[in-house]
Amino acid sequence: LPVDWLKPLDGRVRLIVGPADPPGFADHLLQALPEAEGLLTLLTDRVDAAILDRAPHVRVISNVAVGFDNIDIAECSARKIPVGNTPGAMVEATADIAMGLLIASARRFAEASSDAREGHWKTWSPIGWLGADISGAVIGIIGMGKIGKAMARRAHGFGMKIIYADTSSQPEIESSLGAIRYPLDDLLRVSDYISLHIPLMNSTRGLINESTLRTMKPSAIVINTSRGPIVNTTDLCRALREGWIAAAGLDVTDPEPLPPDHDLYDLPNCFILPHIGSATHGARRRMAEMACENVLAGLEGKRLPYCVNPQVYET
Ligand code: DGY
Repeated sequence: LPVDWLKPLDGRVRLIVGPADPPGFADHLLQALPEAEGLLTLLTDRVDAAILDRAPHVRVISNVAVGFDNIDIAECSARKIPVGNTPGAMVEATADIAMGLLIASARRFAEASSDAREGHWKTWSPIGWLGADISGAVIGIIGMGKIGKAMARRAHGFGMKIIYADTSSQPEIESSLGAIRYPLDDLLRVSDYISLHIPLMNSTRGLINESTLRTMKPSAIVINTSRGPIVNTTDLCRALREGWIAAAGLDVTDPEPLPPDHDLYDLPNCFILPHIGSATHGARRRMAEMACENVLAGLEGKRLPYCVNPQVYET
């Protein structure tokens, strides 16, 4: 994290900083764990029982991300360690990327742009680079949380019909945008676009797999800005290659980073970004601010303002 973003911690904590690359706990950080009282982590840092065993004095973990699948929350809760995240900070930025991927995939930006550069733009052709219509199409949003709602607002602005699958109904989105809640299977069957906005948990890992991909329309386009492992990469590759679905736009992949020689890059109907959903100056700064607020609160023995396991405060 740029030093400037960590200003709120100046003079209040002693910081021991790891290298940006490679991710995870470098040797000097591992050695410092026995005296650490707080951890400020990125989503690339895995915090599990082994790390916590080495850090017996830690009383707050502050993840600079809204997602927290890199942290073993059950283990932290068992040890009464509050874990903080940064909800809200990247909602609009991530929804922008999801909508951008949707348009790029529907209108074949990658193929059209590289064809133009490579001299295949010979004339204006009535059948050149035809793509899918967006206005009037059905978007199925899986997960109607903050980012799902921000995506729904964008889709509404583009004239799309919105259906969604969620564990609970979202009346305000239904009344303001005309969104309709569907059972997941039905949503998969009827959507022209499917956008994923759910956290990675045991129950969502591999949700998009051979069976769910085969349920979709052959013209369907899948957008993933949540977490890579929600989609089974091998099954997605087959789906895109064999035409079970039309295209995919991914900001997250499994694995991450996706190696440059990965099969997905060879598929012209797959548009891939390197996990940049929250990569705007404003969103990233706000994430850092919230993470600093969390770490300071935890060190001062106060309740974290943005806590993912508030049960640790129950007696
Ligand atoms: C998050 O916050 O979880 C995103 O994946 C990165 O901003």
